[in-house]
Amino acid sequence: MSEAGTTGALRLTRLRLTRFRNYATLDFQPGARICVIFGANGSGKTNLLEAISLLVPGRGLRGARFADLARRDAAAPAASPSGWGVHATLRRANADTGATGDTVEIATGSAPDAADRRVFRLNGTPPRSQAEIAAHLSVVWLTPAMERLFQEPAAGRRRFLDRLVFALEPGHAREIAAHDAAQGARNRLLAEAGARADPSWLAGLEDAIARHAVAASVARRGLIAALNGAPALGDGAFPRAQLALDCAISTALETQPAIAVEDDLRRALAAGRARDAAAGTALLGAQRADLAMADAASATPARLCSTGQQKALLIGVILAHAGLIAARRGQAPLLLLDEPAVHLDPARRAALFAALAAGDAQVLLTGTDGEIFRPLAAIARGFVLEQGQAQAADLG
Ligand SMILES: Nc1ncnc2c1ncn2[C@@H]1O[C@H](COP(=O)(O)OP(=O)(O)O)[C@@H](O)[C@H]1O
Ligand SMILES: [Mg+2]
Repeated sequence: MSEAGTTGALRLTRLRLTRFRNYATLDFQPGARICVIFGANGSGKTNLLEAISLLVPGRGLRGARFADLARRDAAAPAASPSGWGVHATLRRANADTGATGDTVEIATGSAPDAADRRVFRLNGTPPRSQAEIAAHLSVVWLTPAMERLFQEPAAGRRRFLDRLVFALEPGHAREIAAHDAAQGARNRLLAEAGARADPSWLAGLEDAIARHAVAASVARRGLIAALNGAPALGDGAFPRAQLALDCAISTALETQPAIAVEDDLRRALAAGRARDAAAGTALLGAQRADLAMADAASATPARLCSTGQQKALLIGVILAHAGLIAARRGQAPLLLLDEPAVHLDPARRAALFAALAAGDAQVLLTGTDGEIFRPLAAIARGFVLEQGQAQAADLG
């Protein structure tokens, strides 16, 4: 996973939580590149990773509503105040001085005036934009909820793919938003006016759909190609996933230049107005794509793989993505792996640990007990969560 030029990576050295989820207050100091956090069900492992995932723009690893993050008093939920805060101190991995610029403070918490909004502070002051926060830090995660991807409808896999693209190309978020807005406007116009809809208005929307759909598809295909071509992880024993973008636009892009695909899509949308009006939805566009995943060695589609094989494929994708971020940004992302060992056999677990040991990304892993992580004992620190506090603990 390591690439040249990752020396400037930020390491989380201290995390303070205030009234966040089950934590009244928490002061957590990882103190090692790899940290294993273990504890019983409900002890706050996922919550701790979620807090870290909120240090970058977005809704964090649970996609939570911000109003749900504030600590609820179980005895008097209605009386619970709504404020929550996450405060992180990060230091350059190779910083040996205390010089300015070696340390970055990122804080986030509920907005003073609205529980369903949050605000950021960068080194104590409001950032000019959330992009300024994202320029300092990237965070990548794997959660047990992602294992459902293989059984879900295509929309879940598409969102998963788009999140991977956003991390490398922030402009992709705007493409998707603009595409979806134009599709929504066209759908409404067709629903309200049908055959009487203004053709030049429709043509304008279809032009926007075609441009943004092709741009989004090119970005998705670019990321997929990079992931498929990423170097093997660790000792190479980890299973590899073969990814593909499954949609008509992607198929067309295999043989035609983007500009021709755009023209065809514009024409096809215009020709499909009556059909889309009848269907109440658009049959063409970036919203029709699916992410196809297969085990590279056997070409078995991921949905036909065992739970453990699926988990391994997912971990492989996440680690390869982290490697891409490190290579392109010159800075490894922070890796949050929530219960990564669940479903993995000993050989795959060993391969995962070898990959993490060989990388230079900071990693926080969780599990219900420390023992399974014993092979990492020489390079990782263990913490046990109890009653909302983190105590240093031996692994195994
Ligand atoms: N806003 C909240 N206020 C108080 N407790 C919460 C809040 N949100 C979630 N919790 C509780 O936090 C506990 C720990 O959750 P979690 O971090 O998911 O546990 P785990 O260690 O199993 O990953 C759960 O019991 C959950 O009910
Ligand atoms: Mg959990």
